[in-house]
Amino acid sequence: DGVFDERRRRGGQRAAREVVESGMDLGLGTGSTTAWAVAEVGRLLREGELEDVRGVATSLQSHELAKEAGIPLVSLDQVTELDVTVDGADQYSEEEPTVIKGGGGAHARERVIDAMADELVIATDEEKATDPLDFPVPVEVMPDARSTVAEDIRDLGGDPELRMAERKDGPLFTANGNLVLDCDFGGLDDTHGTADDLDDIPGVLEHGIFLDMVDTVYLGTAEDVEVLRF
Ligand code: A5P
Repeated sequence: DGVFDERRRRGGQRAAREVVESGMDLGLGTGSTTAWAVAEVGRLLREGELEDVRGVATSLQSHELAKEAGIPLVSLDQVTELDVTVDGADQYSEEEPTVIKGGGGAHARERVIDAMADELVIATDEEKATDPLDFPVPVEVMPDARSTVAEDIRDLGGDPELRMAERKDGPLFTANGNLVLDCDFGGLDDTHGTADDLDDIPGVLEHGIFLDMVDTVYLGTAEDVEVLRF
């Protein structure tokens, strides 16, 4: 995994250096790539290259990382707009562009914080770029509705799998107290259609297909970072 770590480090750090400016309110994504971005913003603040930056975390994990990095935090309900959000992706397609998120189970809060930003920057690595997207779509569901939602997803041609907690018996509960179904649709050739179908299922609280949201992508490659603007 070392090679990928290196690519993600490059993508996350470069995104932080190039998009974050003094005075900004910043959405802080979840995952190993944005962890590098968060650490880099912390370093720039400590070294005086940035000042007056406030962060809003997409998860308890990013909240803790930001605290460690020394980024002043505000809670989501105290802001209505953000200048930039730097977030990660589980898979990325240049078509449109679209990302699948939720591998860390944080996609409900990520969607809110990503949508609030004037600019959504996705930092990821080239291994995550693929077309069509085929990462199992994380779907956050009301716990009691999980069987009926799973049935509806099977009717759509998906194969839902209840996400289990690591090192614990039983399923994973999100920060919102819900369950996650990882739904394998094979290759998504109608991303909009699948996203709409999932939105229409009662009991689905959020899914991980993010359409029409991404402004900029920092793709860490073996030697460099590719920057794509949309
Ligand atoms: C969290 O729910 C996901 O949407 C993450 O943004 C995603 O898993 C990215 O993680 P890495 O940067 O570790 O690949």
